Amino acid sequence: MSILFIGGSRRKESLNTKLKHRLVQVAEKHTFDFELLDADALDAPIYHGDHEQAEGVPKAMQQLAKAVAAADKVVLVSPEYNASVSPLIKNAIDWTSRVDGQVWKGKKVLLAAASPGGLGGIRGLSHLRDILGNVQAWTAPLFACCPNANDETIAAMDEDFLTNFLSQGD
Ligand SMILES: Cc1cc2nc3c(=O)[nH]c(=O)nc-3n(C[C@H](O)[C@H](O)[C@H](O)COP(=O)(O)O)c2cc1C
Repeated sequence: MSILFIGGSRRKESLNTKLKHRLVQVAEKHTFDFELLDADALDAPIYHGDHEQAEGVPKAMQQLAKAVAAADKVVLVSPEYNASVSPLIKNAIDWTSRVDGQVWKGKKVLLAAASPGGLGGIRGLSHLRDILGNVQAWTAPLFACCPNANDETIAAMDEDFLTNFLSQGD
C-alpha cells in the first residue's frame, strides 16, 4: 500500500508541511510504504486554457498526475484560506484532471490540515472533499485537523488517531 503525501503550502515555515512531516513520521513508524512530494515540486500554475492549448499540461503537473496514478492512496495536507481550499491544491487538481486517464477516478484520498485558528482548517477540507468528488476520487471520512497549530500542538497529536487516519482505505 503506497501513500503519496502532498502538501498545499510552499511557505518556508508552513504549518501544513510540519503536519505532513508528522504524518510521515507515523507512516514510517508503522511501516506504511510512502512517497513524499515536496510542495515546491507541485509548481501548479493557475489553470489557463490558452496555455494548455499552446503548450499542453505543464511537465510538473504531468509528473504529479503520474505519481497520483501510481499511488494507492494520496494524503493531501492543505491550508484553509477564507474557509476554503488552498489555490495550490485546487490548481494541481484542475491541471491533473486534464491529463488523459482520469487519475483521480476511484483514488483513495485522505485529507489533513493545520491552522493557527480554532477550527483547524476543517471548512477548507469540506470544500476539498466536494471538489475531489467531482473528479471521482474517494475521500476518507476521517479528517486529521490540527487547530491552534504550532510545533508543540502538531507534535502532541495523538499517534493512534493519526495511525487510524492513515489506515483509512486499507
Ligand atoms: C488569505 C488568507 C486567508 C486565511 N483564511 C483562513 C481561514 O479561513 N481559516 C483559517 O483557519 N486560517 C486562515 N488563514 C490562516 C492560515 O491558516 C495560516 O496562514 C496558515 O499558517 C497557512 O498555512 P501554512 O502555515 O501551511 O502556510 C488564512 C491566511 C491567509 C493568508
